[in-house]
Amino acid sequence: MTDYKMVQLTSALPPVPPCIASIPPSAPRRSFLRWITGLCGTVASAVLGLPLVGYFLARRKREVAWVSLGSIEDFPVNETRMIMFDSPLRQPWDGMTAHTGVYVRYEGRDEQSVDRFLVLAVNCAHLGCPVSWFPQSGLFMCPCHGGVYHANGERASGPPPRGMFHCVWRIQDGRLQVQAPHYPTLQDTLDGTV
Ligand code: FES
Repeated sequence: MTDYKMVQLTSALPPVPPCIASIPPSAPRRSFLRWITGLCGTVASAVLGLPLVGYFLARRKREVAWVSLGSIEDFPVNETRMIMFDSPLRQPWDGMTAHTGVYVRYEGRDEQSVDRFLVLAVNCAHLGCPVSWFPQSGLFMCPCHGGVYHANGERASGPPPRGMFHCVWRIQDGRLQVQAPHYPTLQDTLDGTV
């Protein structure tokens, strides 16, 4: 009597479907999955890596152009002047931003009688706004977020994480020249110092 009841209950249960995950993948399916995984990995590496490669190639290939800022006699000692010029690095789409400038301060001669200049980019080291020079206070001030710099370009206060960007300069035939500045950033400064 007891055995009969158990047989009845067991036969009333629905058949258990086989678990899909438990089915071992066939060989062609396995190789297809491997192939698609490799393809996705390659595409992801290319997407992430190409901009980096482009960045370093662009840095290596950046052209160097010199801009004359005037005779060295045009710069009185310890006086900061803004010199404007058309950037030779300009692109057709740059518009009026191609008309840029630098701050120049003649610091006199050193012990070896070599003329010393301080040439600073106009761009704030925070987010790049052009800073203004205030001779009365001897400070550069940024109108965007209140960044302040000393006359020598060092950071005084505000959000900029560093001092102003120094430009590369030289004297040729008695004239001060500056290496045409690109848009400087914390990672891509003008004189190579970070
Ligand atoms: S851009 Fe100059 S303080 Fe922000």
